[in-house]
Amino acid sequence: MELCLFQLLTNSVIILLVIIVSLPDASKVATSISNLWPSGTYGLPRSMLGCPQSHDFEWKTGWRYQDTEDSYPNNRYSNISFHMDTMIWKNNLNKTFCIKGKNISEEKGGAWPKGQFCIYKKGDCPKQLSEGFIYWDDEDSNNRNSIEGTLPDGIYNHDTKIFFCCRTDGNKSDPIILPVNKPFYLLAYGSSECQQVKGALVTEEFIQYDTEDDSSNKDAWGGTHPNVSHEVPGSSTLVITYCYYDSKS
Ligand SMILES: *[C@@H]1O[C@H](CO)[C@@H](O)[C@H](O)[C@H]1NC(C)=O
Ligand SMILES: *[C@@H]1O[C@H](CO)[C@@H](O)[C@H](O)[C@H]1NC(C)=O
Ligand SMILES: *[C@@H]1O[C@H](CO)[C@@H](O)[C@H](O)[C@H]1NC(C)=O
Ligand SMILES: *[C@@H]1O[C@H](CO)[C@@H](O)[C@H](O)[C@H]1NC(C)=O
Ligand SMILES: *[C@@H]1O[C@H](CO)[C@@H](O)[C@H](O)[C@H]1NC(C)=O
Repeated sequence: MELCLFQLLTNSVIILLVIIVSLPDASKVATSISNLWPSGTYGLPRSMLGCPQSHDFEWKTGWRYQDTEDSYPNNRYSNISFHMDTMIWKNNLNKTFCIKGKNISEEKGGAWPKGQFCIYKKGDCPKQLSEGFIYWDDEDSNNRNSIEGTLPDGIYNHDTKIFFCCRTDGNKSDPIILPVNKPFYLLAYGSSECQQVKGALVTEEFIQYDTEDDSSNKDAWGGTHPNVSHEVPGSSTLVITYCYYDSKS
């Protein structure tokens, strides 16, 4: 009987110890691993391996074929490292998107973490992200722009205007938590440097778009938008940085 009581006591002590020891760990685990994409509706560039991981919703996809400058065409990309599901020729390109829709039963992903990055806009920007755009002045003569499927918010005619949502209030060096089990893309904000993501290796990749060469090139950007620059100041070539994330393990 006494032995029993003793055992019961030590057992409870052990259980109590286990609880005490594991409590801080459990809360750490809860904040350092995420397998859910943040709530809301938005899009990401599609990687060659497909859309990012998702447990509780399905990514919709779409593509935009962009007929860029034909004379002395000069589209380029970071061919040393390039993982985007995008075909790039000197004078045209065709890029694909992964679009997250709203799923009432699923919105458990929480807010986008504090950082400096951009994503494509689809509907309202998620909380804490603000809106902007980039306008590509595509080829004027015999323009063959086309689209199919679900695309980011934008205007897709003989030119291309795409809207973005960016979070700007963090520090790129502070890793944010996102689902890293499958590769994905974000866009760089403010400079060509990419936001760090916990557990992921990030690679800066770029696309150089050779836009319309006439003297009234209408390339433009406004609001809160991804990093974009002219290859040479005043030139009709836009360079945009895409951040590729691949799991470290
Ligand atoms: C919404 O969630 C359900 C259950 O997880 C899933 O079967 C469905 O495909 C989702 N719908 C969309 C539009 O992602
Ligand atoms: C491949 O990369 C090199 C070095 O950055 C660059 O000079 C060249 O233009 C790139 N080619 C294409 C097709 O983008
Ligand atoms: C663009 O790429 C998509 C996906 O690879 C493909 O299905 C589509 O036919 C391409 N569009 C054009 C005009 O090449
Ligand atoms: C961002 O964080 C890094 C490393 O912690 C620090 O060196 C840098 O000064 C910070 N930048 C800003 C703008 O706060
Ligand atoms: C883009 O990044 C470059 C270099 O990182 C910087 O010089 C330029 O001002 C940035 N442009 C915009 C519009 O963010």
